[in-house]
Amino acid sequence: MSATAPLRVGIVGTGGISRQHHDGYRAAGAEIVAIADPDPATLARRAAEWGVTAAYRSHEELLRHPGIEAISVCTPNAAHGPVTIAAAERGIHVLCEKPVSLSPEEGEAMIAACSRAGVVLQVNHHLRANPAVARARRMVAEGALGRIAFLRFRQAHDWGGAASVPPTFRTRALAGGGTLLDNGCHLFDLARHLGGEVTRVSAAGATLGFEAEVEDTAVAQLTFASGALGSVETAWTATGWEMAFAVYGTKGSLEYSDRTGRPVLRHAFRSPGNATWGEPSITAWEEPAGSDHVRAVEAFVAAVRGTRAPLCTGEDGLGAVRIALSCYRSMETGLPAEVR
Ligand SMILES: NC(=O)c1ccc[n+]([C@@H]2O[C@H](COP(=O)([O-])OP(=O)(O)OC[C@H]3O[C@@H](n4cnc5c(N)ncnc54)[C@H](O)[C@@H]3O)[C@@H](O)[C@H]2O)c1
Repeated sequence: MSATAPLRVGIVGTGGISRQHHDGYRAAGAEIVAIADPDPATLARRAAEWGVTAAYRSHEELLRHPGIEAISVCTPNAAHGPVTIAAAERGIHVLCEKPVSLSPEEGEAMIAACSRAGVVLQVNHHLRANPAVARARRMVAEGALGRIAFLRFRQAHDWGGAASVPPTFRTRALAGGGTLLDNGCHLFDLARHLGGEVTRVSAAGATLGFEAEVEDTAVAQLTFASGALGSVETAWTATGWEMAFAVYGTKGSLEYSDRTGRPVLRHAFRSPGNATWGEPSITAWEEPAGSDHVRAVEAFVAAVRGTRAPLCTGEDGLGAVRIALSCYRSMETGLPAEVR
């Protein structure tokens, strides 16, 4: 197949997040040739909506569809591993939703299968494609903030006012954990992306707003290899949506939040001659138009084409999972836990 022919992709799992993958593939000029979902109503609805005729009830059937080059894995967390490994064994590239796996061993097996097959594995920590995150990473690397002392992260929502947690996220068997794994893995990935390796955690979780066997509210303290400290808040018990992060250094700080609907990144610093932090100078950047999810899928298509590295590798996805699972160990014992 010529390098200019549209990439032929399949989407496995056609629920909520699959729409973002669909939009990303369309924006990247890829062709969605097949979809799979065991739920007949969801499958039929997406097939009609997206005009896809090859609609299967299982990923095995989809992977046998002629000419599929890449798939998105948009299933509940528990199926990420089996679907990714089956795709890799057929030489198919994988964009896997987060969290990449439910255990370190499963994540390692997924990475090994993709590496053996020579296929791309990108994990969908789409926040890496966020322009504010990219700017923050650049500024940290350039030393614009001085020595990084503290990093803070929050992702919180209320399931859009729903009375219950959706089935995909409600049980340990399907989800592997609650908000700390679901929202937290994005934040642990950002923590590593902006602050480097995390070595130690201490965490607490509670189920306060929903009938669920997993936690709906959680907080974690992080210690970075650099010596910096950090905190992570995640919740399904919030009043509306918020994604926020902050990086505090000896020469300045960055603070980002989309709480008010207009995402802004603010840089506070001292201008030359400004002796105190009483009235810092502020530069603010409003978020440019566009979707982080679309940008992340475009990066995956480019990685499959070999024109760039994956936005977030399997190892990166696993790095975030290791932190989350270490937080669960800390929750169980009430003691700090080494990340492993
Ligand atoms: N990157 C993000 O910001 C983001 C946001 C939301 C969800 N997610 C992730 O995406 C995944 C799906 O979440 P969702 O919100 O779309 O859930 P969802 O419940 O809306 O959709 C999941 C779909 O997968 C189907 N499914 C179940 N088992 C399957 C299997 N073995 N093969 C194929 N399909 C299967 C279900 O029938 C359902 O239609 C989860 O891993 C979640 O963590 C990521």
